[in-house]
Amino acid sequence: MKIIVTKNYEESCKAVADIIINQVNEKPDSKLGLATGGTAENVYPVIVKAYQKGKVDFSKVSSVNLDEYVGMDPKSPLSYRKNMDDWFFDHVNIDKEKTYVASGLNNMEEEIRLFNEKLYGDKQIDLQLLGVGISGHIGFNEPADFLTAGVHIEDLTESTIQANSRYFDSPADVPKTAITMGIGDILKAKSIVLIATGDHKAEALTQMLMNDEVKTNVPATFLKLHTDTTIVIDKALADKIGYQ
Ligand code: GLP
Repeated sequence: MKIIVTKNYEESCKAVADIIINQVNEKPDSKLGLATGGTAENVYPVIVKAYQKGKVDFSKVSSVNLDEYVGMDPKSPLSYRKNMDDWFFDHVNIDKEKTYVASGLNNMEEEIRLFNEKLYGDKQIDLQLLGVGISGHIGFNEPADFLTAGVHIEDLTESTIQANSRYFDSPADVPKTAITMGIGDILKAKSIVLIATGDHKAEALTQMLMNDEVKTNVPATFLKLHTDTTIVIDKALADKIGYQ
């Protein structure tokens, strides 16, 4: 894994945005794997700014998002589809027909079939953007005795429900299940970039960067098996976990 330590979170967002912009400039018809979550959110405005300055063109780009809550209406302001439209798709020249965020309202068997078609019907994902949950989850692949390789429905852990309740009126309103790319789907991307910040992510990052173990109770440690993964953290988080 390549580790980039930046001065602060703002610089991390710039570094990740640069990786995505370079990917698209090098391969204009790139297929991007995209992520929501509070950490990834601030990467998008940096990309939008570069687009507005004419530094990148998304007209040939396609995308597949990592996950969505089961039961979530794509039109809801809390849906990952709406997040992606608001943060990114509505501000650049991407063809929305070529973007896929799973629908939480569809029949889930049908949605899993569609998700797989979007992942494997044409080309491989060139670059997958990731955040990481406090629990060490990537996408919504939660800690467990075993992980699931392909697209599936995941039961969210209490830690994830608590963490994500900040967007809802109360923890009781957070959906309890999500549809997500599996760990194998994520590892099939040609390259991966993960952004993390904050003391609350220290345990997950310690397990990722400070030992050579791969364990199902910290799913993000599976990224150690990938040949082209970049982890971007800021100095405060690096110091917290003792990474030099
Ligand atoms: C959600 C998403 C993950 C994301 C995680 C971390 O659970 N499904 O893809 O990485 O949150 O979010 P945050 O960056 O807000 O801590």
